[in-house]
Amino acid sequence: MSEQEHRFDVAQLVSVALFSPKPDETVRFFHDFLGMEISHQEGQAVYLRAYEDFYQYTMKVVEAPQAGMEAVTWRAASPQALERRVQALEAAGLGLGWVEDDYAHGPAYKFTSPDGHVQKLLWELDYYQAPPEMKSKLKNRPQKRPLRGVPVRRIDHVNLMVSDVPQNTDFFANVLNFKIREQKIGDGGALVGSWLSVSPLVHELAVMKDSSGAKGRFHHVAYWYGAPQHLLDIADIFSDYDIIIEGGPGKHGTTQAYYMYVFEPGGNRVELFGDTGYLIFDPDWQTVIWDVANEVDLEKSSIWFGGHLPKTFYTYGTPPVESLEVLMGSA
Ligand SMILES: [Fe+2]
Repeated sequence: MSEQEHRFDVAQLVSVALFSPKPDETVRFFHDFLGMEISHQEGQAVYLRAYEDFYQYTMKVVEAPQAGMEAVTWRAASPQALERRVQALEAAGLGLGWVEDDYAHGPAYKFTSPDGHVQKLLWELDYYQAPPEMKSKLKNRPQKRPLRGVPVRRIDHVNLMVSDVPQNTDFFANVLNFKIREQKIGDGGALVGSWLSVSPLVHELAVMKDSSGAKGRFHHVAYWYGAPQHLLDIADIFSDYDIIIEGGPGKHGTTQAYYMYVFEPGGNRVELFGDTGYLIFDPDWQTVIWDVANEVDLEKSSIWFGGHLPKTFYTYGTPPVESLEVLMGSA
């Protein structure tokens, strides 16, 4: 295969591990409201999955003094693809070495983004096997649809706050071979956000400028419904049970996603993703550029319709540099 031919050596977003100062409440949020199943518990960690997640887990909640992200895990397209990307990561000087003993997966190569977000890349992992009472008669569904809350179907994407958008975009595009699907530029043409993917999904990953100047913070993880009505249903429940809705339900211009952002009780932001946005099959996709210094692009890229994104959306990340309460008071 020639160097010019693009290939995705990274195949899929596998999981996100979040730190929570209120782990019991965080787990209850994912379990009771989003209908996720607890698949394993070990020490201070609880592992959960959505009912159409095929692997053992997509969310790990770890008790910690502050909210934040422990790691994002990606699956390589093959053992050879894993080896190629490990070489590229080592050449980029961002490799941390192999981890052999994590729950539910084989050897994983640990690395960081240039901003310091810890990540893992692996090939071997454990598939979920439902016990008999949870087995679905739908053979392409790994378990029965749960009866709790409004159950999410699968993990969709992660959004990382970065101190330097061009540097982190280049890393994911050139070292890990993500395609850059959409970008936002601001004053003077400065890049303020990139949306990248390794599949027809418009993004499995976004990197956005952290206006606080901090490095390596986490913005959100998104779980997918596939039906925007479910955003209205879960918004109704969140409002009744005092879960803070930050923005939405609404539709973004960028990615065309039906979104809603909420804070789980530990303080991390979680997005509920209503539909798929749009899909990209064009192998020669030209990056869509929104110029947010221009008022029309600014308004339409963030909110196509509905919802409202307060100041916290651009300033709050985990670990927090200012508490959510302080930021919301000033939003
Ligand atoms: Fe998102």
